[in-house]
Amino acid sequence: MSARSCQVVILAAGEGKRMRSAMPKVMHPVAGLPMLGHVLAAAQATGASRVSVVHGPGAASVADYAARAGAEVFEQAERLGTAHAVLAARSALTDPADDVLVVYGDTPLVSGATLGRMREALANGADLAVLGFTAADPRGYGRLIVRDGALAAIREQRDASTEERAVTLCNGGAMAFRGPGMLALLDRIGKANAQGEYYLTDAVALANTDGKSVVVVETGEDEVRGVNDRLQLAVVEALWQLAARQRAMAGGATLVAPETVHFAYDTVTGSDVLIEQNVVFGPGVVLEDGSTVRAFSHLEGARIATGAMVGPYARLRPGAEIGARARIGNFVEIKNAGIGEGTKVNHLSYVGDASVGPHSNLGAGTITCNYDGIGKHRTEIGAGVFIGSNSALVAPLRIGDEAYIGSGSVITEDVSPGALAIGRGRQIEKPGWVARFRARMAAARQSTRQSD
Ligand code: UD1
Ligand code: MG
Repeated sequence: MSARSCQVVILAAGEGKRMRSAMPKVMHPVAGLPMLGHVLAAAQATGASRVSVVHGPGAASVADYAARAGAEVFEQAERLGTAHAVLAARSALTDPADDVLVVYGDTPLVSGATLGRMREALANGADLAVLGFTAADPRGYGRLIVRDGALAAIREQRDASTEERAVTLCNGGAMAFRGPGMLALLDRIGKANAQGEYYLTDAVALANTDGKSVVVVETGEDEVRGVNDRLQLAVVEALWQLAARQRAMAGGATLVAPETVHFAYDTVTGSDVLIEQNVVFGPGVVLEDGSTVRAFSHLEGARIATGAMVGPYARLRPGAEIGARARIGNFVEIKNAGIGEGTKVNHLSYVGDASVGPHSNLGAGTITCNYDGIGKHRTEIGAGVFIGSNSALVAPLRIGDEAYIGSGSVITEDVSPGALAIGRGRQIEKPGWVARFRARMAAARQSTRQSD
């Protein structure tokens, strides 16, 4: 990237009425991250040193989210158009960076690389660069009016002539301005159009009258798809997932049925990873090289070390750290727990707020009872431990290395290394009891019949 400085203004004051939601539109997630988060990431990726987010009245969640991401926050009190929205961030533009990018918060698939190409256009001498694409159906988009190979104007749908409406080269909704002079340009934009709004897109015609160089940077239609309703949200999600699956496979992961695997925005997959059908990733999952996730598993906030195998039907919740070559089997839930190298938790278990050393075996139905209704407590299980099936481990608890727990135990006290602990009723046997029982019952029936 060039040595030119860069700042980004994200317009996020959309009402999002068609979402029919209590949540501002840009907070709706794509791959588990608010749309605004995707756009903020693209801004960061293109090297912006300053990011401003313009939100609508009362959109506290947008303001909080942007501020937490380190952006400056501006409120556009009245929704008077895209140029008006940029000017809501006026104080961020009085001493502008060399490159000022304006992007829309509801087009979350725009990449940092594409924004970088727009910056390159400025570095190569353009004064203004517009992100363009060829629309399969251009209705609703601003048309890019090209004359003699140069971008002369952008005409919004409602203001376009029949001839202009036939143009399929459209405005994708991102513009790169040369910083110095930008404010003066935007201040000249009027609202003499069909919607009576201050259109940012009018900057193109104005720049041309000043003899400035205005260029189009083209990209594919999918990258600039906007979200105005839930259907478009699903379309964008599907596109994002498609790209994520391709990235995972390109990185050496086998996806047996890629269309059934749902990644989060930050899922990391190594090489020789195997992901079976119908696996869902929430945020924060890392699959190291050579790990396997079997069918119908749900993972979030988990790390799976090399050679480990999880599922089918496993649930890993935040803080699950699965050691190398460990086995987490069907109907097992792990939360905030480290599972040691080579350790097996193969069936029907809950391990929460715990640590388990290497080469231990937790039998079917092992439960860490971590919650007493008020607080959470830890269970620490050593190396080479054997927990018999259907044991309840009542935390806080320590089980030493090489210890054994008898099946069906309720363990409430620490167990020393190498010891056997059994916490259950002792089995008793009554020889010949069944015959005596049957004789007693038969006699009782006889006497009731006689008294009838
Ligand atoms: C806009 C462009 C159009 C382009 C299309 C791409 C203008 C005038 N038109 O049209 O050329 O093809 O995007 O999707 O820019 N916003 C505010 N405050 C406002 C108005 C809008 O913050 O007062 C924000 C919206 O939240 C949205 C973005 O700006 O994120 C675009 O506004 P929208 O009304 O969706 O414009 P389009 O009609 O889609
Ligand atoms: Mg729009």
